Amino acid sequence: MEKERSSFSGKLGFVLAAAGSAVGLGNLWRFPYLAAKYGGGIFLLVYIVLALTFGFSLMITEIAIGRKTGLSAVGAFQKLNKKYTFIGYLGAIVPILILPYYSVIGGWVLKYLTAFSTGNAHYAAESDYFGYFTGNAGQSLVFFAIFIGITALVVLGGVQKGIEKVSKILMPVLVVLSIVIAVYSCIFSVQNNGFDGILYYIKPDFSKFTYMTVVSAMGQLFYSMSLAMGIMITYGSYMKKDVNLESSVHHIEIFDTGIAFLAGLMVIPAVVSFSGIEGVNKGPGLMFVTLPKVFYSMGPVLGSIVGVIFFVLVLLAALTSSISLMETVVSIIQDKFHLERTPSCLIVLGASILIGLPSALGFGVLSGVTPLGMDFLTFFDFLSNSIIMPIVAILTCIFVCYIIKPTAIVEEVELSGKFKLKKLFKFMIYIAPALLAVILVFAILEGIGIVKV
Ligand code: TRP
Repeated sequence: MEKERSSFSGKLGFVLAAAGSAVGLGNLWRFPYLAAKYGGGIFLLVYIVLALTFGFSLMITEIAIGRKTGLSAVGAFQKLNKKYTFIGYLGAIVPILILPYYSVIGGWVLKYLTAFSTGNAHYAAESDYFGYFTGNAGQSLVFFAIFIGITALVVLGGVQKGIEKVSKILMPVLVVLSIVIAVYSCIFSVQNNGFDGILYYIKPDFSKFTYMTVVSAMGQLFYSMSLAMGIMITYGSYMKKDVNLESSVHHIEIFDTGIAFLAGLMVIPAVVSFSGIEGVNKGPGLMFVTLPKVFYSMGPVLGSIVGVIFFVLVLLAALTSSISLMETVVSIIQDKFHLERTPSCLIVLGASILIGLPSALGFGVLSGVTPLGMDFLTFFDFLSNSIIMPIVAILTCIFVCYIIKPTAIVEEVELSGKFKLKKLFKFMIYIAPALLAVILVFAILEGIGIVKV
């Protein structure tokens, strides 16, 4: 007999849970550094356009597939058409690749939290602090291990519900604090450097548009909204039939994009005012190098307090995401190898530490080893976001267009109200594979160094 699937109580419950998975380091750490690197305003514009068209269509597709079948990704594809079960498996590889390096960055958050809470804000605000501790093998490993250890303890203990409750209360606090810091950061940047920084971020400069703007914005869209890896299918499987699917998707998107936008406002104008326009190219360390300086400029005491509150909130947002990532991987291993929860959790922990080692050491002892010219963390990030996720997204769209047909999705959406953007959805689902294929080819050519921006 099939077990009755538990479900979210209503729309608010669903939106908060899905947004809780979506909001994490992707919004706070990844979005600002990519936006800064790939053209500022033009990246923001491309991202928003992609989110409203492509992101919307893919998210509605995944949630509808989940709700229709009542199963997570592998089972869902299998139920719809056995031959396409492999799409579910391919998507499942993504969290396996993301979890380890996500935890390395989670470790960086812990490190800054430690610095701010032990009265060392002045060190944390120095430019070379980030390079100093990420270059130190011992420190990188210890903080990485603590972060993934906490994640594993929560997953092992099965107490994620408790953590999720806490994070739902703290999410609104994160929003308010983000607004306050963003406003402060902008005022600070205007005082130091006029409007250059703000304009760089919000005014699209079309001369900065390259294909990498689209490649990176698309990868960021997948990452930030937890798309193209089966996650939203799983969430959809817990959704009740009478909850309005389309408006839920709008709410998740607005929430996720709103936080990312604010994170950009906190970081990018300030970077420009500290190090000029050239400063935008700092890569993965951008948020960590910039924000401590902004906090410290508030004065040692206030700066430390704001720093502690901010990094605690980022830590919680990161933990809810890493817990949900690990949970996903654990259940895949459990189902696949018919294991109990504890051994499968320990296997995932061990494997993640191994896979995470190169990413943790890539800024220090392993800095000489650069696959495709990238440090290991950027490499794993590139592999999952720019290669595997577009492939999963292409396959999902083709599956919908030619196997189950878009009407299957439309019918599922219409169970809970009118599908207002039906035309947009049908158009996007047909053209997306071609668009994604172009993006994928460029990403590969860029990766192997044939073309350069
Ligand atoms: N979207 C999350 C973020 O922005 C990261 C993420 C990707 C994630 N895939 C996930 C979180 C799966 C939970 C589950 O940080």
